Amino acid sequence: MTFPPPDYSRPPANDAGGNPDDVRECLRADHDAALAALEHLRSETDPHRCSARLREVRTAWVVHALAEETVVYRMLEGSGGDRADERFIEHELVGGLFDRLATARAGSLEWNARVNVIRDLISRHIESEYRILFPQLARRFDVQELAAMGERFRLARDKLLMLERAKAA
Ligand SMILES: [Fe+2]
Repeated sequence: MTFPPPDYSRPPANDAGGNPDDVRECLRADHDAALAALEHLRSETDPHRCSARLREVRTAWVVHALAEETVVYRMLEGSGGDRADERFIEHELVGGLFDRLATARAGSLEWNARVNVIRDLISRHIESEYRILFPQLARRFDVQELAAMGERFRLARDKLLMLERAKAA
């Protein structure tokens, strides 16, 4: 598949211009945090800390995915486009891999392999969001709408995080 060349006279569509309220910046921050947390998990050797870190990364992922699906994907429903359905499935796949990882022995070959696969899947997912989802958002919504969406995303994420923590307590 080939993609048309970008319009170099405008900032890239996946660039929120540094506006921290823009939903794309919120998503980008979540993605960076998820990858950094996974790197910590990869380098952790103590089994107890591994379990604690895994719980944190998994919760952060579940919350990010649900908030993104309900606030962002929903806004693009009906517009079709490439990979609209794949995005949901990737979220689900990563969630399932985290569940399986929780049953593996920390530091074992299986553990390391699963962490690597999760990282690869998340990286692919993020890359496709930057390449396809962010430009779709830029085409469909103006600056105020993207900021309002960012606000709804943060509220949804905070609420979901509270619920997840209450469930785990
Ligand atoms: Fe996502």
